[in-house]
Amino acid sequence: MKALVLSGGAGTRLRPITHTSAKQLVPVANKPVLFYGLESIAAAGIRQVGIIVGDTAEEIRAAVGDGSRFGLDVTYIPQHAPLGLAHAVLIAREFLGDDDFVMYLGDNFIVGGITELVEEFRATRPAAQILLTKVPDPRAFGVAELDVDGRVARLEEKPAAPRSDLALVGVYLFTSAVHEAVRSIEPSARGELEITDALQWLIDERRTVTSTVISGYWKDTGNVADMLEVNRSVLELLTPRNDGSVDDATEIIGRVRIGGGATVRGSRIVGPVIIGAGTVVENSYIGPSTSIAENCRVTDSEIEYSIVLSGSSLLGVGRVEASLIGRNVEITPAPPIPAAHRLVLGDHSKVQISA
Ligand code: TTP
Repeated sequence: MKALVLSGGAGTRLRPITHTSAKQLVPVANKPVLFYGLESIAAAGIRQVGIIVGDTAEEIRAAVGDGSRFGLDVTYIPQHAPLGLAHAVLIAREFLGDDDFVMYLGDNFIVGGITELVEEFRATRPAAQILLTKVPDPRAFGVAELDVDGRVARLEEKPAAPRSDLALVGVYLFTSAVHEAVRSIEPSARGELEITDALQWLIDERRTVTSTVISGYWKDTGNVADMLEVNRSVLELLTPRNDGSVDDATEIIGRVRIGGGATVRGSRIVGPVIIGAGTVVENSYIGPSTSIAENCRVTDSEIEYSIVLSGSSLLGVGRVEASLIGRNVEITPAPPIPAAHRLVLGDHSKVQISA
């Protein structure tokens, strides 16, 4: 069995972060979201992994390398444009051969891994097995309708009037039957080869498509709110540890992990919080569900329920909440006169000013 991991795409919903970096590499508890997926694939006993890469190929390659550190053997498969999930299967034909495979969306996060699922698929070998989860508003997802026996009867991509509340989770298992399906379908109205159409093609051809409704936690980390929520849930399981230096004037409460060479002085840290290697925190408050990456600086500031990427600084800026801050960002106070905000923001930035 092989794995096909999708790490191309445009990542429009995470702009401006994705103007300069791959969305699959945005860190959750200071580890790229993609790494959690690769670890679950390795844990399921799969070794050969094809990674679909687009414009951010170099960055993904630099982060994952040959995969040996995950116990994986990685092959990179370039996709010239994000033409759809079924297009990714189409271009991976040579890598996949006639083997069964699991397709994993590189920006999806599933608690509990995929081991049981892979075992179930290996034992039963339907043409395809999909994962479903109940969502409050299915209109933004691929939606499945099940028949009385629990088999998948119909699939629709982002339906205006959903026929169920069961959304497709970003992990799919296939036998080689999927190759004929992806060759047989046409691009959708949005110009993509949709995996839901390929699955529907299999159903129409009377091939077995089974589903498992997951009870565990799943999120597509495609937007900032979901990213912060995944970060919160992963931090809940953090093992506290201090590899840095913390002075006596600092108060640490709850689960807090401090990286090597990090320094915390005169601050109050209320976990769960992770602070990356080499970061300096002084006279500041860091509140629950916050991940601060490596080599950051937080001075005379307060931050909570946020993700800060490496090399950024918050210097004397009061309170920051529910924020995703990119790499090497500087946030500082404006001079008192005139009372005005001074901003240098990249394209598609989003700022909410409290004044
Ligand atoms: P999506 O989140 O559906 O698409 P996107 O990355 O273009 O994001 P946005 O909607 O914000 O513009 O993609 C799911 C995953 O699959 C993601 O990790 C990117 C990857 N992908 C590919 O590798 N190739 C593709 O052709 C597509 C559509 C997505």
